[in-house]
Amino acid sequence: RRAPCHSPRPLSKAARNCFSTRESADVSNADPAAMKPRRFMPSGPLRGTIRVPGDKSISHRSIMLGALAVGETRVTGLLEGEDVLSTAAAMRAMGASVERIGDSEWSVHGVGVGALLQPQAPLDMGNSGTSTRLLMGLVASHPITAQFIGDASLSKRPMGRVIEPLSQMGAAFAASEGGRLPLTVRGALPAVPITYRLPVASAQVKSAVLLAGLNTPGITTVIEPVPTRDHSERMLRGFGADLSVAVEADGTRVIRLVGEAELKPQTIEVPGDPSSAAFFIVAALIVPGSELTIQNVGLNPTRAGIVEVLRQMGGDITEVNRREVGGEPVADLVVRHSALKGIPVDPAIAPSMIDEFPALFVAASLAEGTTITTGLEELRVKESDRISVMAAALSGAGARVTETEDGLTIEGTGGEALRGTSNSRTKTHLDHRIAMSMAIAGLVSRDGVEVDDTRPIATSFPVFEALLDGLAQ
Ligand code: S3P
Repeated sequence: RRAPCHSPRPLSKAARNCFSTRESADVSNADPAAMKPRRFMPSGPLRGTIRVPGDKSISHRSIMLGALAVGETRVTGLLEGEDVLSTAAAMRAMGASVERIGDSEWSVHGVGVGALLQPQAPLDMGNSGTSTRLLMGLVASHPITAQFIGDASLSKRPMGRVIEPLSQMGAAFAASEGGRLPLTVRGALPAVPITYRLPVASAQVKSAVLLAGLNTPGITTVIEPVPTRDHSERMLRGFGADLSVAVEADGTRVIRLVGEAELKPQTIEVPGDPSSAAFFIVAALIVPGSELTIQNVGLNPTRAGIVEVLRQMGGDITEVNRREVGGEPVADLVVRHSALKGIPVDPAIAPSMIDEFPALFVAASLAEGTTITTGLEELRVKESDRISVMAAALSGAGARVTETEDGLTIEGTGGEALRGTSNSRTKTHLDHRIAMSMAIAGLVSRDGVEVDDTRPIATSFPVFEALLDGLAQ
C-alpha cells in the first residue's frame, strides 16, 4: 500500500513513485532481539570533573552552513552522535565534502548556496527530527527532489509544521498520512519569500524557513512570539548572511534574512551541550555526597532554563570561568548534592529547557514536596510522548506522578531513594533522553532501574555510559 499524499502542489508522477522503492519506515531498530537493556544501579557520591560532548543543535547547523559556504569550514568539538552523522551523510549526498579529520574535528567543503545536488537515494534521517526539518528547509528552495526516511520514532513525528510554510514558499510535498515520513520534497526555483508567524514555539520550524530563505530572492521574515533557541540566527550571521533581529515591546522577535545569501566558510568551536550536561547536573544534585564539575557547558539564555529551575528548587550550581566559545556563552558548572524542593514551574520558561523536562522530572521525584509542570504539549511530539512515557517510567520505579494533559505533577520523596524496578523494564520508546533520565533515576533507587534499550543514547550522547561509569562507584 502506498502512503497517502499531502501535496499542496501536485508532484510529478516520478516523484510520487519514489515511495515504491521503500514503502515504509525503517523499523529495524524496534526489533526486540536487537535491544540493549541495562540496569543502572544505586551509586555512591559522584565526584570529579567531566566534559560533555558538543552541542547537538550547533553541530547540525555547523555542518549544514559549512556545506553551503564555498571553501573549507573547520569544526572542532563536533558532536559525533548518530543524529549529527545523519546530517553529515545527507550533506554529502547533496554534494558537500564532510570529513572527520580528528577527534571531534571535522572539515567541510561546501558547494555554495543554490548549488546543492540532487541526492541519488533517500536521505535516511535515523532518529533525528532536527536533521529532517532543517534539511527540508534547505531542499525547499533548491531545484532538487529529495525523499526523507527515518526510524520508527521519527516516522511518527509531525512534519506538517514545516510542510506548511515551505509550501507557501513554493515547495511541493508528498507525505505519509498525517504529514509524516517517509516524505518527498520537491524544491522550488525560485522560491517565494514569505513572512511567517510561528504557530508553535519551535526552533526547528524557524530554522527550516530561514534556511529555505537562504536561496530565496528577497527578504524572508520569521515572526517568533515566544523566543526559542537562536543558534541558527547566531551562526547565519557568523557565516556572513544579512540577518537582522528586531525585538518588539512584548518580546516578539522579528527575524529578517536577505536572500540570496553568499556564505563565507568559518572556523567553529562547538560548546558543550547543556542538554547532555543536564543529566549530570541532576545526577550530582540527587546523589548524596556528590560534588561534580562539568566543564564547557553552553549557557545560551535560550537553552539555560534547566539551570534556573533547578536553582529555584534549591540546587547548588555555581558557574565558574564564564567565557565565549563559538559565539556562545559558556561556563564550567560546579554542582553539589542539594536538598531539592518541589515548585510550580513557570510554563514561560519551557522553550529554554524543552529537552530537559525528562531530567527535571527525575529531580522532582526526589525533591521534597510537589512539582507542578504545565504548558508542555510540545513534549508529546518529541522522540516519544515524553509526558506519558516519563509518567509510566517514573511510576514504574516507584515515584508518585500524575499525568495531566500538558504536564506532570510529581510528589517527591524528599530525598529518599526510589523503589526502582525489580522485575520490570522501563520502556524508552527509542528515546535517548528517556533512557538517560531513567539511568540517572537508577542512581538513587533501592533496586536499580532497568532500561529496556540503551542504544538510542548514541543519537545525542555516545559517551554517556562511559562518563557515568567513570564517576559512579
Ligand atoms: C532543536 C529544537 C527543539 C529541540 C530539538 C533540537 C533544534 O525542537 O527539541 O532537540 O536544534 O532546533 P523544536 O524546535 O521542535 O522545539
